[in-house]
Amino acid sequence: MNSIDLRSDTVTVPGEEMRRAMATAEVGDDVYGEDPTVNRLQAELAERLGKEAGLFMASGTMSNHVALNTHTSPGEEVICHRWSHVFNFEGGAGPAMSGVGFNLLDGEYGVITAEQVESVVRPDSIHYPTTGLISLENTHNKAGGTIFPLEEIRRIRKVADTYALPMHLDGARIFNAVVATGIEPQQWAEPFDSMSTCLSKGLGAPVGSVLLGSKDFIRKALYVRKRFGGAMRQAGILAAAGLYALKNNVDRLAEDHANARRLAEGVNGIEGFSVDLTGAQTNIIMIDVTGTGVSEETVQISLAEKGVQVHTFGTGFLRAVTHLNVSAEEIEKALEVFSEVAESL
Ligand SMILES: Cc1ncc(COP(=O)(O)O)c(C=O)c1O
Repeated sequence: MNSIDLRSDTVTVPGEEMRRAMATAEVGDDVYGEDPTVNRLQAELAERLGKEAGLFMASGTMSNHVALNTHTSPGEEVICHRWSHVFNFEGGAGPAMSGVGFNLLDGEYGVITAEQVESVVRPDSIHYPTTGLISLENTHNKAGGTIFPLEEIRRIRKVADTYALPMHLDGARIFNAVVATGIEPQQWAEPFDSMSTCLSKGLGAPVGSVLLGSKDFIRKALYVRKRFGGAMRQAGILAAAGLYALKNNVDRLAEDHANARRLAEGVNGIEGFSVDLTGAQTNIIMIDVTGTGVSEETVQISLAEKGVQVHTFGTGFLRAVTHLNVSAEEIEKALEVFSEVAESL
C-alpha cells in the first residue's frame, strides 16, 4: 500500500493541470520587474488581502525574515509567542540575518493578549533593547493549526498604535483561517503593516510565498530580498503554480478541515491517544500519545511501518496534517492503522 503522508501540508505534489500552468507560463526577468506572471500573482494577492503591493519570495522563511529585517534595526526586539515559527523553526534567522532578539510570550493555542504584549514593550531607556516589532502567526502551526481571534488581533493593534510599533503576520496558512471562519482575507490582513502568506502549504504549490504591505514597505523589502539572495529571474514558472493554487485550491481547504476533524475525533476515541478537540480547528491535529506508555518516536515508527507517516512534535506529541493529496477514504484507513498500533503497543 502507498503510505498516507500526514507529516505536513508541504508534502503535496503538483498535479497535471498545475504543471501545465507552470509549463505554459508567460515569463520575463523578474529582477527587471518584467515577469508578467510574477507581477500578476503579486497584484492578485495584494488585492485579495487589501494591501497596496506584494513581493514574491522563495519561501515562507525568506518572506518572514525579509519582513523582520525591513521593519527593524539590529539590537531591537520582536515580541511574539514562544511557539512562533519565526522564533523556533527558521534556523535562527532573526538573530543571524537581522540582529534581532525575541521577547517571548506564552498563551494557549498560540494566542497572546494585548495586555501581555503591552507588558513587555520596552521602556525608552538605554539599558534595554528597543521594541521593534510585534509578530503574530495565523493559523498557528505549533499550536495545532489554531486560529488567532480577530478581536484580540485588533486589541493588539491598539497597543501597537499606542507605542508606534509595526505589526507583522506570519500568515503562512491564512487561507485556512479564512475558510474555517468565513472571515474575509482583507479583514484578517487589515490590522497588520505586513503579512506573509504561503502558496506551498495547504494551497499545494511546489514553491513560493508572497510578502504584502504598503508600496513603501515593499519597495524597502525589495532591497532586503536582493540582499538575502532572493531576487529570481524567470520566476513566473513558479508564480504560475501559485496563481493556479489561488484559483483552484482555496475553497477546497474545507475538505482538509473536515478530514482533520474526522481524524481528530477518531484518534481521540482510540485508547492510548488523546486529541484536544477544541484545538483541532483547521488542518493540523496534535495527538497526545502519553497514554500509550511508549515514546512518541516509538508510536511514529509503528505507524510508519503500517503506512501512516506523522511527525513527532514535542514531548509526548505527534502532529498529523491533512492536505490535498489525502482523501477522506485514506483518513479512514489511517484511523484503522492508529487502532492497530494502539492494540499492538
Ligand atoms: C507558520 C509557518 N510560517 C512559516 C513557515 C516557513 O515556510 P517555508 O518552509 O516555506 O520556509 C512555515 C513552514 O511550515 C510555517 O508553518
